[in-house]
Amino acid sequence: MKKMTILLVGGGGREHAMLHAIKNSSRVDKIYAAPGNAGMADMAELVDIGVMEFDRLIAFAKEKDVDLTVCSQDDPLCAGIVDAFEAAGLKIFGTKKDAAIIEGSKAFSKNLMKKYHIPTAAYEVFTDPKEAEAYLETQKMPIVLKADGLALGKGVLICQTLEEAKAGVKEIMEDKKFGSAGNELVIEEFMTGREVSALAFVDGSHYQLMTSSQDHKRAGDGDTGLNTGGMGTFSPSPFFTEEIRERCDREIFQPTVDAMKAEGREFKGVLYFGLMLTADGPRVVEYNTRFGDPETQVVLPRMKTDIIDVFEACMAGTLDQIHLEFEDNAAVCVVLASEGYPVSYKKGFPITGLDKFDNKNYFCFHAGTKFDENGQIVTNGGRVLGVTALGKDLLEARANAYQATEWISFENKYMRHDIGKAIDEV
Ligand code: AMP
Ligand code: GLY
Repeated sequence: MKKMTILLVGGGGREHAMLHAIKNSSRVDKIYAAPGNAGMADMAELVDIGVMEFDRLIAFAKEKDVDLTVCSQDDPLCAGIVDAFEAAGLKIFGTKKDAAIIEGSKAFSKNLMKKYHIPTAAYEVFTDPKEAEAYLETQKMPIVLKADGLALGKGVLICQTLEEAKAGVKEIMEDKKFGSAGNELVIEEFMTGREVSALAFVDGSHYQLMTSSQDHKRAGDGDTGLNTGGMGTFSPSPFFTEEIRERCDREIFQPTVDAMKAEGREFKGVLYFGLMLTADGPRVVEYNTRFGDPETQVVLPRMKTDIIDVFEACMAGTLDQIHLEFEDNAAVCVVLASEGYPVSYKKGFPITGLDKFDNKNYFCFHAGTKFDENGQIVTNGGRVLGVTALGKDLLEARANAYQATEWISFENKYMRHDIGKAIDEV
């Protein structure tokens, strides 16, 4: 059979991990990445087109006879990249705009969960800051404020006091700290418990759960500091037991897939369930319409099944015929960031040590890097690299990952030192 040409849209650590999985497929021989990143250059041909330039991406896919385009980034998906490609007669793996709203609007996803009795934190939605403030007066603290739209994982404020919460309403709704994402505000009950990221492939009717993982969203050790895009992950989560999984299957996963279908928003692609294991059972914290970042960096290196077969089954509605398999091992990813992330940080520092990774047990996924004018790889973002290591169990994977972080040097290198610390409690 003729081997396939793939166009991967995006250029973060998640896409670098996806690229490894695509490269491992026996069915692929040529991969383009738009725009890609410096770390992806030896496995894919980089194309200088941005993820939101749909017309240019479509023209490129046609010109190069691309067999399948793959996109797993929220902005293009919510803006309708899948609809645009399909309208042009091209095959693409990802979620259509009308279903991607499950991530694009927190008000939509909260209302969906309420309507279909899917367990989540109690909440109200506001468009008027005065009404939001009045509601806060009646609530217990801490409380959680969420800007409605996409805000790079940063549009969530956890407020300990009423004063803090009122200041948060002002920041989000009046000062528009997260832009138009703050036109609507969700105020929700604060939940406590372990967080688990459960990613599933979905074909509209069926889903297949990937191995579990856990992200560390706060910037500092001990879960202190600001929320970030994610500072590190481990997989599997030992807290996501078979019993909890079965309960999630019944109460959350299948009901969500069915709810989207019932709403006429059939979901195809990767559905990310951000879960909190509360004393009252598992509840949904958030949905994403894509692979998680940096969850993908610990999930995909453990996947045995050919990813192209899975993508095609999602698109064809035949996911029930796929046997999705993961290695019986563990992975830990430690993000190397630039000091100051997520607020302000410098860029442009040369990175050394990148050649020490074997891409079998040790991976260095690039997130914010680029080539400078001399062809040297330099830092180019807040999250710079994701260092992933495998091990026979979580303890070994964690030790391996932290050892590998020492191979890399760049100025202002910053990381958390307690990724996977929760493992010690098992
Ligand atoms: P989100 O963007 O909705 O995933 O929120 C980002 C992070 O804020 C989550 O991963 C949680 O750590 C935290 N968070 C969000 N909602 C709640 C909640 N209702 N209770 C407690 N923590 C929350
Ligand atoms: N790691 C969280 C996310 O991808 O949204």
